[in-house]
Amino acid sequence: MPSKKSPLINFSPLLTALADGPLSSWAKRLPEQLEQAITIERWGDMPEWQSVLDNLPLIAPTQLDLKQGVTIGQSSDCDDNTRQQLKDVLMGLHPWRKGPYELFGLHLDTEWRSDWKWDRVIPHLAPLQDRLVLDVGCGNGYHCWRMLGEGANRVIGIDPSGKFVHQFYAVKFYAQKQTRGFDKLAPSTDVLPIDVLPLGIEQLPPELKAFDTVFSMGVFYHRRSPMDHLRELRDCLRADGQLVLETLVIEAGLGEVLVPEGRYAKMRNVWFLPSVETLLSWMRKCGLKNPRMVDIAKTSIEEQRSTEWMQFHSLRDFLDPSDDKLTAEGHPAPVRAVFIAEA
Ligand SMILES: C[S@@+](CC[C@H](N)C(=O)[O-])C[C@H]1O[C@@H](n2cnc3c(N)ncnc32)[C@H](O)[C@@H]1O
Repeated sequence: MPSKKSPLINFSPLLTALADGPLSSWAKRLPEQLEQAITIERWGDMPEWQSVLDNLPLIAPTQLDLKQGVTIGQSSDCDDNTRQQLKDVLMGLHPWRKGPYELFGLHLDTEWRSDWKWDRVIPHLAPLQDRLVLDVGCGNGYHCWRMLGEGANRVIGIDPSGKFVHQFYAVKFYAQKQTRGFDKLAPSTDVLPIDVLPLGIEQLPPELKAFDTVFSMGVFYHRRSPMDHLRELRDCLRADGQLVLETLVIEAGLGEVLVPEGRYAKMRNVWFLPSVETLLSWMRKCGLKNPRMVDIAKTSIEEQRSTEWMQFHSLRDFLDPSDDKLTAEGHPAPVRAVFIAEA
């Protein structure tokens, strides 16, 4: 089993690109951070993930669509045996939570319809064209692809989950074939300006003040200190840059917030679920300008569900079987809202 970082996880082009721009100070310390982040000592499962990347079948895509979804290649780019091989290898990174992805006619039907979240968010954004974008807690990078599809100049996702980072680079391996010759052993440096780094937000340098748009989607309720999270996000933005915050809320008034003592919808590590008005007031207090709630939606069992690609329990199992307005613990069932503000 390999234990070294796969050549498909190549941060060199990113580091070169960042060396001269607004993120140059971070670029100096990034190599060491990245070196420490991807190690076998840290992740015992890493050899299995590496072998997935090493065993991806070579398929040259003839199509790349990041605007309507994440579609790489088409059925006619490979035969059925190769498609089956692709499926078998990618299953080595189960569970696939965020997606869906369409790879050479293979439908990766992930736990989440992350495209539905994107559809709720996208109408409210300052256009991403030519922007430098950070996606905090990006999972396997599904939304990062959609940001690139909207014309972002560069997208950097960060997520501390090693498995999700490997999922991202499996997808990138195929997406990149659009922009360079198909040669696994001698990749060109002409790579797509999109990366997912195996880092948590606490590892970003303070006061970066560099990104044009910062996303934090599905992360806020996992943070123990909500004000610190808001301030960290604000400090990543350049003046007038845009924050997009998506999180669980409760339907209640100003000042109200749910802090579940035990689990919430069977999730550990859930801290603060404020009401919309409460979160808006926290955003103002943290110096964010003109915060507004632009979308609110109850999470449905069609949006989050078990699939072939995520075979564990999902939302249906996390709700009260006799009342879907409540979680299994008796809390209000998940309602998610999207907030926008400027720095
Ligand atoms: C609910 S998922 C959200 C994924 C994606 N942003 C979305 O909206 O579909 C939360 C993600 O946050 C990541 N995460 C957890 N702690 C984090 C931290 N300290 N910094 C950045 N991301 C973190 C998790 O690994 C997980 O992938």
